[in-house]
Amino acid sequence: MSDADTDTEERIREAIARPKNMGEMADADAVGTVGSPDCGDMLRMWLKFSEKDGRKVIDRASFQSFGCQTAIAVASVATELLAGKSVEEALALEAGDLSQPLGALPPMKIHCGQMVEGALRQALEAENEDAAALAPAPSLPADSTLLGRISGSRTGTGAKLRVVKLEDEDE
Ligand code: FES
Repeated sequence: MSDADTDTEERIREAIARPKNMGEMADADAVGTVGSPDCGDMLRMWLKFSEKDGRKVIDRASFQSFGCQTAIAVASVATELLAGKSVEEALALEAGDLSQPLGALPPMKIHCGQMVEGALRQALEAENEDAAALAPAPSLPADSTLLGRISGSRTGTGAKLRVVKLEDEDE
């Protein structure tokens, strides 16, 4: 194992031990939730916006991870990195950018970073869409799966919520 791999593992361990910005955000403006068909894990991200120099920027971000420790590590560093970014800047960030403070994720864990990217995109898109058009994934029976339970649960905020499944890479 290379030194870089060891460093990444250590950073992931530290981020899991002391995650930043973990938990529901009561006054969020937008929420995004994604689920991975590969591992069954889910991740939710809340965003709060503010105005800075006439631009809409992310004031703060928080998250909850359902089932995945690596996603906790990526979401922790990503939510720190997102503070102060404009919506356009945030939309330009990919999974590798969001997990960059941890170093390169091992191949088996790359989809954990993609979960964070997916939740961020959902929240940003939810903010830009009419709340009336937002609905849980229609193909999933309510309450029969983790996804159904989460999509049917309250967000705890007046934030806009949409739940989607990430693309299955095998398809
Ligand atoms: Fe599935 Fe990390 S193992 S998101």
